[in-house]
Amino acid sequence: MRFSKRAAVAAAGIAVALLASACGSSGGGGQASKDVEVFTWWADGGEKAGLDGLVSQFKTDCSQYNFQNGAVSGGAGSNAKQVLASRLQQAQPPDTFQAHAGAELTDYINAGQVEDLSAQYKEWGLDSAFPKGLIDSLTVQGKIYSVPANIHRANVLWTNKTVLANAGVNEVPKTLPEFFTVLDTLKAKGVQTPLAVGKDWTQQMLFEAVLISDLGAEKFTGLWNGKTSWTGADVTQALNDYKKLLSYSNKDRDTFDWTDAEKLLMDGKAAFQLMGDWEAADLDTKGFKDYGYAVFPGNGNAYQWLADSFVLPKGAKNAEGTKCWLKTLGSAAGQKAFNTKKGSIPARTDANAADYPAYQQTAIADWKSGVPVPSCPHGSACSQGWQGAVASAQGKFSSDQDVAALQKALDAAAKQYTKK
Ligand code: GAL
Repeated sequence: MRFSKRAAVAAAGIAVALLASACGSSGGGGQASKDVEVFTWWADGGEKAGLDGLVSQFKTDCSQYNFQNGAVSGGAGSNAKQVLASRLQQAQPPDTFQAHAGAELTDYINAGQVEDLSAQYKEWGLDSAFPKGLIDSLTVQGKIYSVPANIHRANVLWTNKTVLANAGVNEVPKTLPEFFTVLDTLKAKGVQTPLAVGKDWTQQMLFEAVLISDLGAEKFTGLWNGKTSWTGADVTQALNDYKKLLSYSNKDRDTFDWTDAEKLLMDGKAAFQLMGDWEAADLDTKGFKDYGYAVFPGNGNAYQWLADSFVLPKGAKNAEGTKCWLKTLGSAAGQKAFNTKKGSIPARTDANAADYPAYQQTAIADWKSGVPVPSCPHGSACSQGWQGAVASAQGKFSSDQDVAALQKALDAAAKQYTKK
């Protein structure tokens, strides 16, 4: 079972979610058809702030319906995806759920679990609202199955400015060798955790950032479409660099979600954290102002993108209510209400950068000039099976530190899951 390690954590969530959906449908005839259960993993902090922004727009645009929050907490859907899989298997889908554009979404499409929204795209004028590359990653055999809410960037290095200044570090490193030098300086100055890291999927993110530095954007993308070999010396180099980076991190990383690692940064115990730009919104929501950000050292103008999109599941109880939700989140007002609070940038091309906080203004500019590369833990690069295989290989590596074994496991996963 690809998710068996996490099954115990998910079991409680499944029970709660099934109970919630049962309660939702037994609330009396008229009431039930008004509820729109929106399933996400945005339960706290900046993620919830983003969701709340969208919900307020939904309340305005779709006042005939009730928003029902089906969020299951856990970064990157670490618990939610299993709850969802179980509900889909039992034919108890929520009215809509979040699915990453790209290979992850394709899993649901291939399994016949989501409806074709091509007609709605025409009706709502969405075909021309989103960039072509994004539409391509939402399309399977000419049909479009979801509405994107945003574009996030994964390869961002967050800093605690005071920790850096106290150690005499005045510039964020631009290359991996410079990064190692700075990490050594921080260590020598007694910084407890120069680099804060969390569990499996956050380790995947860090490793991918190192791969982008060591292989470059094009060869990195090739790892996911079969054009780049996982057995090459450049991948070995990246694995060794990644291993070295872990030596500057907190030893309890495997028990940490991304927000626990972020707390080390906020508490001044860590200097750096590699994390997606949902961190901007989360730090803002938590009132922490002393942070800086830069692209991960050596990543240049590679923009490691991912997009949260929402679907209409087959068998949803309230398909009309879901359509209203999807129309709202695809609209200019919905994207603004959501993304100004979520740290992401709008997927629509007609947004006004001036409406956005400082971080997103830089991201909007970088997205226009950068080279897009995908992310496996956030679904744009690989299927859910592949995600699970990589996560468990990296979890093992976190304790055994066996570079050759990890490279072998990554190669085997690629051979198993790369589309022929
Ligand atoms: C990603 C998701 C983001 C953010 C992040 C951390 O997979 O696309 O919106 O929620 O996980 O939980």
